Amino acid sequence: MLETVTAVRYVSPLREGGSLPGLVEADDLGTYVVKFSGAGQGRKVLVAEVIVGEIARRLDIPTPRLAVVDLPSAIARYEADEEVQDLLTASPGHNLGVDFLPGAFGYDGSRPPTAQDAGAIRWLDAYTANVDRTWANPNLLVWHGRTWAIDHGAALWFHHAWPSRPPDVGRFVGQPFDDSGHVLAPVAAPLRETHDRLAPRLTADVLRDVVAEVPEQWLETTASLPDLDTVRATYLEHLVLRLEQPDAWLGGAA
Ligand SMILES: Nc1ncnc2c1ncn2[C@@H]1O[C@H](COP(=O)(O)OP(=O)(O)OP(=O)(O)O)[C@@H](O)[C@H]1O
Ligand SMILES: [Mg+2]
Repeated sequence: MLETVTAVRYVSPLREGGSLPGLVEADDLGTYVVKFSGAGQGRKVLVAEVIVGEIARRLDIPTPRLAVVDLPSAIARYEADEEVQDLLTASPGHNLGVDFLPGAFGYDGSRPPTAQDAGAIRWLDAYTANVDRTWANPNLLVWHGRTWAIDHGAALWFHHAWPSRPPDVGRFVGQPFDDSGHVLAPVAAPLRETHDRLAPRLTADVLRDVVAEVPEQWLETTASLPDLDTVRATYLEHLVLRLEQPDAWLGGAA
């Protein structure tokens, strides 16, 4: 599982984030952008953040370190802003911490990454079906001269159907990915060439380790996924099969 730290101070909300992420100081002297488990988007977006962020890390795509931030209830009690207090009160225990990159600025295309680095991020998004990397919402930061990938909560959409429908692995595996609006598409190396370079690095063992990083508090059992081992195995099955059958999501991409 990810490293766990304890929040010592809620600093401020990051108003630009849709889920009202907040800046938090923790007992390891780190500062984190925290995505709260009680936010309206639900815990599945945290699961997607961990799985996709940890896949990115294993592919050497720059992405901030992730941690579990334990939130003591006293921090919520002393928060003056009512909206924030409600969010903190709804989020006791484990929340997602994203290492804060001080001085980073939003990607605007003026300093694009190399074709290889851009290709890796675009491939990651195609593989995990992450639609959240457009000019309207690039979710890329430029920091120390490199382009960092953040905000992977929208990926792996298949898990949102689990409460009502049994997992349909084939639907995700064969789902094409439209990357025409992808912010890095114009500067990225060809998708299939990138696939041939990166896919062999994601062995089943690597993907199993990635899925094992997700804290159990965020995993949801359902009638057809009755225990946590089955939930993890189902994520793994989706990830392994999509990787093995790339034709649909690589499409006719050059
Ligand atoms: N690790 C970080 N270091 C510095 N700034 C960050 C970091 N993570 C996020 N931010 C800033 O906070 C903003 C919101 O973060 P993020 O996109 O992860 O949240 P979100 O609530 O999922 O947002 P949305 O759904 O609106 O895209 C980012 O656009 C960025 O400006
Ligand atoms: Mg965002």
